Amino acid sequence: MRPQVFVTRQLPVPALQRLGQVCEYRIGTDRGVLEREKLLAGVQGAHGLISLLTDTVDREVLEVGAKLRIVANVAVGYNNIDVATAKERHVYVTNTPEVLTDATADLTWALILSVTRRIVESDAFLRAGKFDGWDFDMLLGSGLTGKTLGIIGYGRIGRAVARRAAGFGMNVIYCGRDDIAYRDDPQHNALMMARQNVTSPLNQSARIDGLSARRVTFNQLLERSDVISLHIPLAAATQHLLNQEAFARMKRTAYLINTARGPVVDEAALVEALQQGRLAGAGLDVYEREPEVSAPLLTMPNVVLLPHIGSATLEARTAMAMLAVENVIEVLSGRSPRTPV
Ligand code: DGY
Repeated sequence: MRPQVFVTRQLPVPALQRLGQVCEYRIGTDRGVLEREKLLAGVQGAHGLISLLTDTVDREVLEVGAKLRIVANVAVGYNNIDVATAKERHVYVTNTPEVLTDATADLTWALILSVTRRIVESDAFLRAGKFDGWDFDMLLGSGLTGKTLGIIGYGRIGRAVARRAAGFGMNVIYCGRDDIAYRDDPQHNALMMARQNVTSPLNQSARIDGLSARRVTFNQLLERSDVISLHIPLAAATQHLLNQEAFARMKRTAYLINTARGPVVDEAALVEALQQGRLAGAGLDVYEREPEVSAPLLTMPNVVLLPHIGSATLEARTAMAMLAVENVIEVLSGRSPRTPV
């Protein structure tokens, strides 16, 4: 008997054709988010589950899907999956890194340019019939050349964003996973600062990937950046990483960009900071309680809001689906998955 796979939502045809070469599969829904009862019914008897970031794969799902050997998430983030329970039950969890890196980095830059050059606001201005001729100080934005881009989370997407910064003449600073996890540890921060001393053999401002990106402490990044871009996964340690205290450290002229996960930012604190002018603006692709967006954000001209489209290119979404399918086929054929989390 061929292995049974439950696919929560319709995926691109090439991916399903490939899946059909090896497995029997059923699809939960043609579009939108699959209802919980249908997810629970779908995993019964299935050996593989292909899920989306909107599917909550928790203990109940993993227990009902007692035969599951793999949960292949069609996303790089996997905060929708109870990885600990999956591990306990010897169920592989896979994600889709690499294939969406460029799409997400491009979208990050689209947001950076949109907020700093007031693109959306300018478009609305013109459509409202307010453009009655060129004017010297009409819709002035903020230039990027020579400014500092602070990248929080220096994985694949963070580095791809940094590479693009070179083209805009920006200085790049970043903090990685440890700098975030140990941000309140004085010893870690002291070591990091010692490393920044140009005469120190530990100096880490060296080129990484051909980039001149300087590693700094979390607080230094907040204090020095003109644009801050988030590229970290959502986990207990990163929930509300950008909170009232963090906003208070940022420059009043700084912009915040979030293409990672909404709950990394305390949305209420962000709204307050923007209302009080403690931040120049924000570009958001993700929200704390998606699809809900804090109402005050909708009225702010200095905020650009996108409906979680970071990886939404035809190429990236097709490649994501293909990778998830390959992971399922590998595991259900008795091999290791390509991209386990
Ligand atoms: C991901 O893959 O985690 C993205 O958020 C999907 O767009």
